[in-house]
Amino acid sequence: MNAIADFSAADKQPASPETPACEFVHVVKRFGAVTVLRDISIVVPHGEKLALIGPSGSGKSTLLRTLMTLEPIDGGEIKVSGETLSHGSWSHERQRSDNAAARAKRRRIGMVFQQFNLFPHMTAVENVAVAPRKVLGLSHRDASERAHRYVEMVGLGGKAAELPARLSGGQQQRVAIARSLAMEPEIMLFDEVTSALDPELVGEVLGVLRKLAEESTLTMLLVTHQMEFARSFADRVAFLWQGQLHEVGEAKAIFDEPREERTRQFLRAVLEAR
Ligand SMILES: Nc1ncnc2c1ncn2[C@@H]1O[C@H](COP(=O)(O)OP(=O)(O)OP(=O)(O)O)[C@@H](O)[C@H]1O
Ligand SMILES: [Mg+2]
Repeated sequence: MNAIADFSAADKQPASPETPACEFVHVVKRFGAVTVLRDISIVVPHGEKLALIGPSGSGKSTLLRTLMTLEPIDGGEIKVSGETLSHGSWSHERQRSDNAAARAKRRRIGMVFQQFNLFPHMTAVENVAVAPRKVLGLSHRDASERAHRYVEMVGLGGKAAELPARLSGGQQQRVAIARSLAMEPEIMLFDEVTSALDPELVGEVLGVLRKLAEESTLTMLLVTHQMEFARSFADRVAFLWQGQLHEVGEAKAIFDEPREERTRQFLRAVLEAR
């Protein structure tokens, strides 16, 4: 059995298969006087691969960051496996609170960013092992074993003992993906994870994401400007425009027959820019 099949069989089954992995209910997010998420509502079932697309500044990163509780919300509610993660009526302090219950809910979610920020003085496998050891309390041996499994999964078994400086950008980003996966979250968020990479390194990272999407039961939310990838990766695609979920549908429907004029304009502009 390969590592990803092994991973997908992990004992991470949701309490009830009908409970969505996460849910945005009329979510509003403001920065000062500016509203950047307007009444966002979407239900993401367990195992769904959802791509978020839309123009720069439309709120894609902010949406992921609210789900990661990196940003408090100002209205509505975000639920994870049926439990309230953030509520607009809670103070920002409460939404950021770091008690055991909040940490346990947050641990269900992992995020990979454009910038991978590995610890430069640690090898690839040490970068992956550190959080399982420090946050989950695994022994050195168990954390290391787990880290090796995930480094292997992203195709870097041969590079486990290298320091980040000796890895290419694409390899470093794959280590960053392994680092998030090693926390064994139920939901993984990817925010333009290939946009800091040289073009020739993009493919290897997309390959890892595609493999994860095809072979694991992880719920994945992914922001991308690469439409062909979104199309092949996603079950559904959500088009954000000025902080609103302007159109959500099956990937094929959004790309082949978008219903909304704004979606059509955006796709046309993106395709023409290539
Ligand atoms: N920390 C912040 N403080 C103030 N405004 C912010 C902050 N973060 C984001 N914004 C604003 O919120 C809006 C949405 O930004 P966001 O980064 O979510 O867009 P995006 O869709 O991810 O864009 P891009 O495709 O360029 O990454 C933008 O108008 C942005 O300027
Ligand atoms: Mg962004």
